[in-house]
Formats: sequence, structure tokens, C-alpha cells
Amino acid sequence: VGARPFVYRDGELVCDGVSLQRLAKKYGTPLYVYSAAQMVERVGMFTREFADVPHTVCYAVKANSALGILKLLAEQGCGFDLVSGGELERVVRAAGERRREVCGRVVFSGVGKQVWEIDLALRSKILMFNVESEEELELLAERAAKLKKRARIALRVNPDVFAETHPYISTGLREHKFGIDIRLARKVYARAAEFKWLEPAGVSVHIGSQIRSVEPFAAALSRVVGLIQQLRKDGHAIRYADAGGGLGIDYGAGEFDPAREVAEYAVALKAALGTMDLHLLLEPGRFLVAQAGALVSEVLFVKKNGTKTFVIADAAMNDLIRPALYQAHHEIVPLVESKAKKKKVDVVGPVCESGDFFARDREMAPLKRGDGIALLDAGAYGMSLSSNYNTRVRPAEVMVERGKARVIRRRETLEDLFAPESV
Ligand code: LLP
Repeated sequence: VGARPFVYRDGELVCDGVSLQRLAKKYGTPLYVYSAAQMVERVGMFTREFADVPHTVCYAVKANSALGILKLLAEQGCGFDLVSGGELERVVRAAGERRREVCGRVVFSGVGKQVWEIDLALRSKILMFNVESEEELELLAERAAKLKKRARIALRVNPDVFAETHPYISTGLREHKFGIDIRLARKVYARAAEFKWLEPAGVSVHIGSQIRSVEPFAAALSRVVGLIQQLRKDGHAIRYADAGGGLGIDYGAGEFDPAREVAEYAVALKAALGTMDLHLLLEPGRFLVAQAGALVSEVLFVKKNGTKTFVIADAAMNDLIRPALYQAHHEIVPLVESKAKKKKVDVVGPVCESGDFFARDREMAPLKRGDGIALLDAGAYGMSLSSNYNTRVRPAEVMVERGKARVIRRRETLEDLFAPESV
């Protein structure tokens, strides 16, 4: 299992020593289980590898926005990369009394910021706005002047760098909706500098997600660095280079050494930075939390249709949509280790869509009604992309910390679902 905190101990799948069977029994299924230790360990890899450059790890909240996780990461010294006022509110709540300090490590990205979100971020004195269009720049200048709050800005530039990943999560090409064409950036910085309440302080880039080679990151960052040199000549005091997120993990069953991946990533980014005196911002999401999490589910039925065998789990695409949306692969393992001969099955959920599958033609040891399974690497873009489709309540979330499990989000109830409605 290697890069994952989920391993077999005496034939039982455990998370940092805690039995998943026991958690499933106690809290019910579907159930998200996270290892706090692994998240902390992953942050440490970044902190170590980037120790020799001024940097801030701004965790991309969208990957998993559970308050319990945000609090844990804030305690590790992380900043945050946000894309909505809702995410900012989450960070503020998770930070508690340390919210001023934590907001000072927040960057606000996204192509469609609304007035209330901009105002909230201005009042919260965040570190920087990653501005994605000229129109947004004008709006931000207007709001900053109105509230008399200074705003540090970075333009999110589009470096026109191709990175191999799923087309839905690739963002660094000119044809994508993200960022401002890097060739037009100087002109926009000049415009930004005209506004009294705006301070051009950084340049930001993000080329996509689940990228498995470091070269595209280095290529994008060196274009950013080239731009910064030019901007400094133009008289802008640029101090921050935001390299975005996107470092991928191995969702497969093979060997994966996360520490080595971060080391290579750091070497590549630092080479791109060269001797430039800059504060580096990093926005990893998936890499910090994906492998720390699993979605635990119970087999409801095993059914044969023609030549196919369907394992029907109590978790579904509304709980974890990645296979349905991106044809993503997630390893699926039984909670009780089995040496029995594997057979090909489809693992599916109860939702009324053929797209509601977790795996197709997957070799699995035989499963029967009542057996437990775990979908691995579900810590990122699992719960945060969940929905109530088919009027299914969202799963509970449990965090394992120092050998103890605690609920960080209780299972929703049908009453929760109906609360905003009227007849
Ligand atoms: N920064 C920005 C501006 C982003 O748009 C994203 C992700 C990140 C950072 C974090 O990227 P990460 O390190 O997690 O790759 N739902 C998809 C992934 C969508 C990513 C969106 N942006 C999935 O499940 O694969």
C-alpha cells in the first residue's frame, strides 16, 4: 500500500492503527476516514524541500474543505488558496482566534469573484488577490477604494504550457478560461498600478491538476519569472511568485514515493526561480490530502447480469464522483484481507445512472452482502465534490489522530436536506 496510511494488520484494514471495520460499525457507511498524520507528513515534505527559499504553502481548500482539516493544516503553518467567499468563511472559522494571522497567508483565486466575496476578502486583509481578468481588476479597484482597503494583487497569467492530464482539469492553455494571456500581462500591470488602492505584488500561475511530471511546472514558473524581471524593470515591486498547485499522485497499485516527488518538484521550481529574490507561494491541494483519505462502504448486493457481476455498494457517485466525471481510477480494497482467487467485477453505487460506477472489470476477491470495502485516495475532491443527488445524505467524516478517531462531520440527516425547502 506504501504511500497510504491504510494497511492490513492481522488481516484487517486499519488507518494509523484504527480498524476500519470498527469505524464502519460505529459510524455507519458510507464513511470518509482521514489520517491526520499523513496530512501533516505531506505538509512537512513541502516545508523541508522548500526550506531554503522563502515560501508559503497555501493549501487549495477546494480539495477538501472540512473545518477539521483546515484547522489541522492551519496549525501546521499553512496558508490557503480560496476560490469563494464560502471557502474564506471556512478558513476564518477553522482558524478561530488566529484568523488575522491565517488570513495573512490567504490567496484568493477564481475567474468569477462576486462583490460580496471581494468585500469579505478585503475586510479580512488577505495576502493577495489572484486576478483573472481586466474586468475583475476594475471591480476590485472600485471595491478597494470604496472600503478604503489596500489590496495586493497578482495577475494569474496563462503561460500557454501544455501539461498532460485529464482535459477537464487542464488549465494552462490559451484556449482555457483561466488567467490572462502572459503576452498581455505588462499592459494590465500598468493599468493596475494606476489604482491608488491596488498594489501589484505578485504573479501567479496554475496550469492544471493531477500533473505527474515536473517539467510543465518548471516551464510555467520560468515564464512567470521572466515576466517578473520585465515587470520589475517597468517599476513594479513584485515580491511573490505563485506557482499554483497541481502536483499529482499515483492512484494505482504500484510503488509511489511522495517524498521523492516533492523533492523533484522542488528542484524543478527552484531551478526556474534561479537567483531571483522572491517569496514563493505554492497551492497544493490533492497532494496533501488525497492519499490520507478513504471512502469506506458496505456491499449491499452482488448481482449477475448476463456475463457481468455487479458489486452494489452503499456509496455512490454522489459521495465520490471522480470515476464518473473523469474516468478516474481508485483502488478498491476489502476491509478484511482475502487470499481468495480474484474475479472481474464492476463496483457500482445505487444511483440511477449508468455513470454511477467506481470500477469496471476490476479484479477483486469475492465479495458478498455486508462486506466492507474501502475506496482509496479519496481524501481530495471526494467529499468536497459530493452532492445530495437521489436525495442521499452526505457521508460522515472521521479523522484519525494519534490512534483515536473523531467525527469531524456527522452524517447528514434527511431533516438537514429538507430544511431549506418549503412546500
Ligand atoms: N490552485 C488553483 C488555482 C486551482 O484551480 C487548483 C485546482 C489548485 C490550486 C489545486 O490543485 P491540486 O494541487 O489539487 O491539483 N476535481 C478535480 C480536480 C480539480 C482541480 C481544480 N483546481 C479532480 O478530482 O481531479
